[in-house]
Amino acid sequence: MSQSKPQHLNTLLDLDRSQLESVLALAAAIKTEYKSMGPSDALKGRTAAMIFEKPSLRTRVTFEAGMVQLGGEAINLDPGQISIGNRESVKDVALCLSRWIDVIVARTFSHKMVTDLAKWATIPVINALTDLHHPCQALALGQTLMEKRGKLSGLRLAFVGDGNNVANSLAELAAHLGMHFVLACPKGYEQNPEVLKTLDPVFKKNGGSYAVTHTASEAVAKADCIYTDVWVSMGEEAQAETKKKQFSGLQVNAELVAKAPADCLVTHCLPAHVGEEITQDVMDSARCVCFDEAENRLHAQKAVLLTVIGKR
Ligand code: CP
Ligand code: NVA
Repeated sequence: MSQSKPQHLNTLLDLDRSQLESVLALAAAIKTEYKSMGPSDALKGRTAAMIFEKPSLRTRVTFEAGMVQLGGEAINLDPGQISIGNRESVKDVALCLSRWIDVIVARTFSHKMVTDLAKWATIPVINALTDLHHPCQALALGQTLMEKRGKLSGLRLAFVGDGNNVANSLAELAAHLGMHFVLACPKGYEQNPEVLKTLDPVFKKNGGSYAVTHTASEAVAKADCIYTDVWVSMGEEAQAETKKKQFSGLQVNAELVAKAPADCLVTHCLPAHVGEEITQDVMDSARCVCFDEAENRLHAQKAVLLTVIGKR
């Protein structure tokens, strides 16, 4: 294992613009290669340890299948068994895993848990979703928009919903790639100001922009893509009833989509709560690319695994 500082992916800002573009290009190449040639042995003998403190379908399956398709394997650690931070410190868990395996994939409640793992691990740590960020989801959207639109720079992305982890990572994607990001949320549900502060210079440098509105129709008026996510994220169940009332005017439905340009795409990170943030007819419409994006989680994360493990 390399003694140099590992390449983590805790947020998309762990990559510079050219690294991010390389990961997206690699993801596209991997998708084509896998469809024609099937599994490879690029990560033969390599192991990922996966820690999931929250439920998952897409992230867990795509990391596990991704490792297998690259010739390696993934070990799923039961968070109750390792009881990270309780049975032993985050530091000791990170140091031990670093002696045995090649990469840690972690879905945790607190973002600090993944940054602490990354602080001590001598192997890469990949954020598989925290309360603050979901970088792998944003990579999958980047790959999907490249496929559908052939470019990312200059595209207008309207996020209709909560200023949450997914919104933060999508704003990072937009900032890096010169996209125009607008959040439509109820008052009080704007994005974390610390995250926005770090993004401000990145938007400026790359020619993108950031805006917030409380009116969904305003956000989607010029959008190339409308993005939505659940109103109540994992860990926020106690706020469910309050949030559902506050977000009720922010549904992505046929009436809202009709206010967007005719070729505007719609997507969702999934799982969707149909009838809340999105309607079934919009999910089923030709504009909706959420299952393409879900597929691209696999390819984009294989690109991340190869990049951080240092095989490309
Ligand atoms: N979008 C996403 O991360 O899905 P899972 O929660 O099922 O992993
Ligand atoms: N914002 C959601 C995303 C799920 C993939 C959550 O954190 O639950």
